[in-house]
Amino acid sequence: MKVIRTIRELREELASRRALGQGPVGFVPTMGYLHEGHGSLMKRAREQSGTVVLSIFVNPIQFGPGEDFETYPRDEARDLAFAESQGVDIAFLPDVAEMYPQPTKTKVAVSELTSLLCGASRPGHFDGVTTVVNKLFNIVKPDFAFFGMKDAQQVAVIEQMVRDLNMDVRIVPCPIVREGDGLALSSRNVYLKPEEREQALVLSRSLKTASELLGNGSLRTAGDARQLLREIISEAPMADIDYADVLTFPELTVLADDAEITGVDSMVIMALAVRFGKTRLIDNALFQPKEGISHV
Ligand code: PAF
Repeated sequence: MKVIRTIRELREELASRRALGQGPVGFVPTMGYLHEGHGSLMKRAREQSGTVVLSIFVNPIQFGPGEDFETYPRDEARDLAFAESQGVDIAFLPDVAEMYPQPTKTKVAVSELTSLLCGASRPGHFDGVTTVVNKLFNIVKPDFAFFGMKDAQQVAVIEQMVRDLNMDVRIVPCPIVREGDGLALSSRNVYLKPEEREQALVLSRSLKTASELLGNGSLRTAGDARQLLREIISEAPMADIDYADVLTFPELTVLADDAEITGVDSMVIMALAVRFGKTRLIDNALFQPKEGISHV
């Protein structure tokens, strides 16, 4: 595995690999502190690419004031060993000066999809994400890019950007990876104190219960689903709910409380953001109303 820290060197390396017919290029953009969720993206990239590029870059412009940019967990040596074990060909680790030699005057912003859920709680966050993903796509020029569905809104926003701007890359959404007890893997889980981690299991439990009840027809409306999610999450005294919402996916249209979920034409997402102490966790489950199938 080659470790590359400059844009120029990465472009040269990718040009020579393409000239040798070592495509297509699969790209896994990350902020590091890699876990098995990232591992599943690298594995998927390996299966369908001649060259797998992983980027590790904690992108300052997607963090708001008072958020955890400075303290975001970092462990370069461990990440590189893990990436190598997953068959990555090139690990790209630029520093902030390489990516932003001067403050960016250009931002890529997707409207509407970014005005709710995490976009409402973290103003400017998605503009930072779409801007850096755009820059990374321009640098790597991937054929495929792999994103985890734990950040389902991020996937919807990036897919919208790719369509709107005719970007020549295929976005491959990959399923959420969970611990055995249901907690969705996240680099931020490391912040959780043991008691918070225990209580955080209400997230996956609420989604699983709501999905089961939707599947067997005993939960019908979006309002009932919202109420059930809130009731189960509130069983954890440390849980501070940011949102627990029910929307169409990927359009992210909020369903009215009296909307019958089985009558919805597109997929439905139950999306959660909940704070435990200083840690804000997100999780979600998709439901396919026509087939009664859920993905938790
Ligand atoms: O999902 C993430 O880790 C980040 O938002 C991404 C896509 C790498 C952009 O910084």
